[in-house]
Formats: sequence, C-alpha cells, structure tokens
Amino acid sequence: MPRAVAVSMWSVVFLLIAIVLVFAGIRFGTDGPLIVTGTPAEGDSFELRYVENPWLAYLHIVPGVLYLVGAPLQLWRRFRERHFTFHRRFGRVLLSLGLVSGVFALAFGVPFSYGGAWQSLAAAVFGSWFLVALLLAFRAIRGGDVRMHRRWMIRAFAVGLGVGMIRVWVGIFAGFQILSLEESFAPAFWLGLTMHVVAGELWLWWRPNEDGLPRSARASVAA
Ligand code: HEM
Repeated sequence: MPRAVAVSMWSVVFLLIAIVLVFAGIRFGTDGPLIVTGTPAEGDSFELRYVENPWLAYLHIVPGVLYLVGAPLQLWRRFRERHFTFHRRFGRVLLSLGLVSGVFALAFGVPFSYGGAWQSLAAAVFGSWFLVALLLAFRAIRGGDVRMHRRWMIRAFAVGLGVGMIRVWVGIFAGFQILSLEESFAPAFWLGLTMHVVAGELWLWWRPNEDGLPRSARASVAA
C-alpha cells in the first residue's frame, strides 16, 4: 500500500478513536458522580438516560471503548504476522468485548435513544450489522477461512469507528445550529454509520485480499 495512503488511513482511524474516547470521558465525568452518589439527573438532560440505566449504558460503553482501542492492533498486518499467538488470544477477548457492547447497544440504544424513533431504528439496524459481522468473522476463522474472517472483521470495525463519525455530524448539525442537539442525533446516526459501512465496502473492494496487493496489481499478476 502506498505509504501516504497508509498514513492517512491510520490518522483518520486514530482521530475517530480519539473522538470516541473524548465523548466516553465526558460521559464518565458527567454521569459518574451522579451514579456514585445516587443523585438523580435533571429531567430533560442528555445524561438522564445514562444515569437512570447505568448497567445498560456502561455495559455498552466500557467494552465498546476497549474493543475500539484494541482492534487496530489486530488489523495491523505486520504485528499480526509477528505475534500470531497473541493475535488469536487477544482476538477472543476483543470479540467478546465487541459482542457485549453490540448487545447492549441494542438494549440501551433502541429503547432509550435521545433523538427518537429514527435514531432507535439506526441503532437497531447498525447494531445488528455490527453483531452479525463479528459473529460471521468468528465463524469464518473457526472454519479456517482467513479471507472471510478478515473481511467481516473489517466490516465490524468500520461500524465501530462510525461511532466517532456520528459525533462529527452531531457537531456539524448542532454546532452550526442547523438542527437542535436532539434533532441532530437521528440524521447523525444514519449519515455517520452509513458512511462507514460504505467506506468499509470500498476498502474491501480496493484491497480484497490479505496478500497486500491492491485490486489493480492483482489483475496484472493474474493476466
Ligand atoms: C464498538 C464501539 C463503540 C463504542 C466505543 C461506543 C461508545 C459509545 C459512547 C461513548 C456512547 C455515549 C455517547 C455520548 O455521550 O455522546 C455511546 C452511546 C450509544 N451508542 Fe455506542 N459505541 C460503540 C458501538 C456502537 C454501535 C455499533 C452502535 C449501534 C449502532 C451503538 C449505538 C449507541 C447508541 C444508540 C448510543 C446512545 C446515544 C444516545 O445517547 O442516544 N454504539 N456509545
């Protein structure tokens, strides 16, 4: 892969992870003191749902953050090739974390969405896609199909990263006062996560295989 492409791609990945970490930190900082002291959140505040449903919310956020921080190591080819045993063991841990986060994305995100029914629908659609991708990645590697394992893991990671892109769209809509904060959430979920599913598919189309050769090079090798 051209170095410039790799550097740009990883920069975007780490920027989006950093955005998610900032928002997770804000959640801990805002909800934590209220949950620990048993203080109720204000009736119309954003944090109300997190403070009233801490188990559902934090069984989504904490494993999700750990999954998102750990996954780049699994996707980094050179590291994977050099530490294959670690890749397998750590993969099981990350898979479990991703599955727990995905299940609680549905359990918390669908009934308690801030932005209403359209956001709930997005959480149901993309949360299910995230879970299906993780499960199919696991099934593929159990069956020895490394190629499909890679493809489904990239699809799952693309959706997980999309969580950062949702915050970018919320920032644009609410920051430029195009929509209120509450109205921003549903379109931000649909836009952010659709963009990431499409980006994942484009990546897989451009680099369909593990061998590191882009589609164009593979065509010329085959000819
Ligand atoms: C796997 C990595 C993930 C991480 C690290 C993560 C992290 C977070 C964080 C930090 C929040 C709190 C939001 C805030 O205060 O701004 C949140 C909320 C939420 N997440 Fe995730 N998430 C992940 C995956 C997903 C997936 C795959 C879905 C399903 C589409 C999802 C759906 C939701 C929903 C619906 C909420 C509630 C938003 C609201 O307040 O209405 N998350 N997540």
